[in-house]
Amino acid sequence: MSDWVMVGAAADIPHGHAALVDVDGTPVAVFNVNGQFYAVDDTCSHAEASLSEGELDPEACSIECPMHGSCFDLRTGEPLSLPAYDPVRVHRVEVVDGTLRVAVDAGAMP
Ligand code: FES
Repeated sequence: MSDWVMVGAAADIPHGHAALVDVDGTPVAVFNVNGQFYAVDDTCSHAEASLSEGELDPEACSIECPMHGSCFDLRTGEPLSLPAYDPVRVHRVEVVDGTLRVAVDAGAMP
């Protein structure tokens, strides 16, 4: 696990929205689902697409890749539909005094 990195104000990502942030050179997608924040690798595990630009489904707590349509569970990073079959990494995210901070999971890349 890496150290926490401040990535911006939590208020800048309203419910149902996402932001692409840089965490020590790693592109990370941060999502707000009903006030709960989730952070996963921004780059899809299938090809070079930005998950922060995908369609967020707050009910399913999932993100649909904008390129080929695979959905990923934001809690686990697991793909819920093809063509992606590898998960994306899930990162720790929390709010401290209104500021979002993320710690990248330095584990194996998907
Ligand atoms: S690039 Fe994401 S599903 Fe193909």
